[in-house]
Amino acid sequence: MITRLDPIIEFREDHRKVRDSLLELAGAAEAGDLAGAREILGRINTMVGPHFRYEEEALYQTLREFLGDYVDSLIKEHDGAIETAKVAASLLSKPALSEEERRTVARAARALLVHVSNCDGLNILAERLPPERLEQLADHYACSRAQGVPLLEWADTIRGKGKQ
Ligand SMILES: [Fe+2]
Repeated sequence: MITRLDPIIEFREDHRKVRDSLLELAGAAEAGDLAGAREILGRINTMVGPHFRYEEEALYQTLREFLGDYVDSLIKEHDGAIETAKVAASLLSKPALSEEERRTVARAARALLVHVSNCDGLNILAERLPPERLEQLADHYACSRAQGVPLLEWADTIRGKGKQ
């Protein structure tokens, strides 16, 4: 028997992991632990790719039923989150960072935290979906995870193409 994942539980669980990693990233950047910050950002990139992809390819479209055109602003929020992640990644690719640059990375991590807390609120709406829609979402979620495309790679390839 195949057990489907629970998209409500997994969604929140992803947010918890990303929340903790972003807090760790801000702390590492502020402490000047560049190796640590790079490792954490790498982890976030891997975790968040399938999550964002699931949101844009499945969840948001399903939530149009409740939110209507507001869904478009959720996608714009993702544009901002991706840009913020790129700023952090490009700074952390440098061999050394000034204090101001380290602060910029920490600020980026804290800005992304806001996205995590806003996004988690969508679960309260997803709970109202009928079981068959939740099953479809579960399958999309599992598929996106199985493909495992990291955030910045997805943003520059699959996501970009879909938007043209
Ligand atoms: Fe999310």
